[in-house]
Amino acid sequence: MASTTLFFLLLCSPTLSHAFDSASWSSFLWRRADTSRKVPEQGYYNPQANGGSLLTQIPVTYPMGQGEPVNAIISGLSDTDVLVDSEVNGGLRNYFLSFGFSSECLGQKSVGNQKVDLGDGNGYQNETSTIRWNYGDPALGSCKETIQGGNHFRYWVQNGPLANSGAIFMAVSYELPLARQHDIIPDGYNLGRDWLIGNITQSSIPTRNLTDSSAYSGSTSWAGYTYQTDIKYLPGLLQNTSDGINHNITVGVDGINAVDGLVALFTVRIATRPSNSPSSNAAWSNTPLQLLKPATLVAALSIPLLLSLCS
Ligand SMILES: *[C@@H]1O[C@H](CO)[C@@H](O)[C@H](O)[C@H]1NC(C)=O
Ligand SMILES: *[C@@H]1O[C@H](CO)[C@@H](O)[C@H](O)[C@H]1NC(C)=O
Ligand SMILES: *[C@@H]1O[C@H](CO)[C@@H](O)[C@H](O)[C@H]1NC(C)=O
Ligand SMILES: *[C@@H]1O[C@H](CO)[C@@H](O)[C@H](O)[C@H]1NC(C)=O
Ligand SMILES: *[C@@H]1O[C@H](CO)[C@@H](O)[C@H](O)[C@H]1NC(C)=O
Repeated sequence: MASTTLFFLLLCSPTLSHAFDSASWSSFLWRRADTSRKVPEQGYYNPQANGGSLLTQIPVTYPMGQGEPVNAIISGLSDTDVLVDSEVNGGLRNYFLSFGFSSECLGQKSVGNQKVDLGDGNGYQNETSTIRWNYGDPALGSCKETIQGGNHFRYWVQNGPLANSGAIFMAVSYELPLARQHDIIPDGYNLGRDWLIGNITQSSIPTRNLTDSSAYSGSTSWAGYTYQTDIKYLPGLLQNTSDGINHNITVGVDGINAVDGLVALFTVRIATRPSNSPSSNAAWSNTPLQLLKPATLVAALSIPLLLSLCS
């Protein structure tokens, strides 16, 4: 009995109850909230079906009305762990690192925030973050990209109440150096998308020869996680045009439109995990019935009970 009391008292210590609050408890809630995610067969909802758009709004050019194309989507049918915005447990930021892209230089927040309406009921939302090619240096390479220019993308999550697919929408472009105001290089939307895909497939993508049935796949690794990415180019989400596209005067070259109208859809699976990681959380959270496992229920129900003893 004494040892049980001691156990309860320990639970009431600030550190432990905080641990329950912020870690186990919120991850339990997160997984439960996650079951409200409903992914259509194609892996995302077309933003235009609900008043949204695959062109961004830019504070500088809006209301002039020029935007940048959202030209890649990570499918909501990807492994659940990949769709979590995290560097641990094989999450999204670890996936980005696996093909050479790092978070903003020294944690700074980009000045040029862009917005997009993914038709999910949340309206226009600021980008979640800007991610930059790291020139092979995961810690500081994105600083080099900020100054010298290079490939980068902004992304948004389609998770509003009207279209909660969990898909990640990315606007990829290759920018000029900071000294040149970060304009986009000629053909820099199509090339940025395809160089990023080239980094995943370790092969050169023939941008000018792509069709609406082009498909590729590749395998990349970071921190013991290996990701298998299947890529399909989709027509019809963006227009093949230069009209209304930011920097269209310099980006559209040789009679080629600034935007070729193709959006790359990535479906990502975690093929291998480090041996010390929990096997597959994807299976766990994809199966709502798992929530009813006695051990899970007992653990879940006892946490609020134990916490209530603290007050
Ligand atoms: C969105 O970004 C703008 C800067 O572009 C900022 O002023 C605003 O506070 C941001 N909104 C939210 C909800 O973070
Ligand atoms: C990988 O990305 C870099 C920077 O964007 C690019 O120069 C290179 O061509 C890419 N690799 C492939 C194989 O496309
Ligand atoms: C594109 O297609 C043309 C005609 O089929 C071919 O000659 C050219 O080599 C292709 N380019 C690339 C980069 O694959
Ligand atoms: C750029 O887009 C604007 C509309 O925003 C259009 O009027 C103009 O003709 C376009 N320029 C080119 C070179 O395509
Ligand atoms: C985009 O339109 C141009 C003509 O304006 C055409 O040559 C090109 O093949 C089209 N690209 C795609 C991917 O359909």
